[in-house]
Amino acid sequence: MNQNEKKMKVAEEALQYIESGCILGVGSGTTVNCFIEQLSKIKSKIDAVVSASESSSKLLMSKNIRVISLKEAGRIPIYIDGADESNSLKQLIKGGGGALTREKILAQSSDRFVCMIDDSKFVSKLGNFPLPIEVIDVASSILALELIKLGGRPVLRESFITDNGNIILDVHNLNITEPIKLEKSINNLPGVVTNGLFAIRPADDLLISSDKGIEKI
Ligand code: 5RP
Repeated sequence: MNQNEKKMKVAEEALQYIESGCILGVGSGTTVNCFIEQLSKIKSKIDAVVSASESSSKLLMSKNIRVISLKEAGRIPIYIDGADESNSLKQLIKGGGGALTREKILAQSSDRFVCMIDDSKFVSKLGNFPLPIEVIDVASSILALELIKLGGRPVLRESFITDNGNIILDVHNLNITEPIKLEKSINNLPGVVTNGLFAIRPADDLLISSDKGIEKI
């Protein structure tokens, strides 16, 4: 199976978490796009969706799926999203698509966070994928220096503005031995909106798609 086929399979599998009449949280990215395709087949089963990005909202609305705000929804029973990397503790790196801040808000607001990946993203140690950090523009150069002090190599994501109007620094070469500690210390730097480590609030269920099928952790 190629990566797209694996994404479609894992997206199909995630449908089993949906309960009748529920409000669902949905993340962003190509795996989530596959999930939205699947979701459109059973859309009458759900009440509404809270979406983590403008692009997911657009796709959902094109399928005539009702999109509501987090303010309307309150807490979210189930949140379904992809990731760029996961370790065996279901701690993640996210933000390859740049929607990390709203994704982290939705993950934090959810009772159950189901993450869909393919086997190429399941790693023993996080950090091969550069860590995305959403940053307020005026702080970018001072933050870059702080991130270098942490051992990283920050690279500005070119021609990219987040849905919140900010920029992204992708930080290469970080030695992520303690994901929770690093998540907290990066978030404490003034000018950081969010970083893409999802370790304080990891996934509850991880679905890994491979040639052998879907493994659930
Ligand atoms: C977007 C994300 C995505 O979940 C992550 O980048 C994975 O994307 P894809 O499903 O396209 O591989 O965090 O901000």
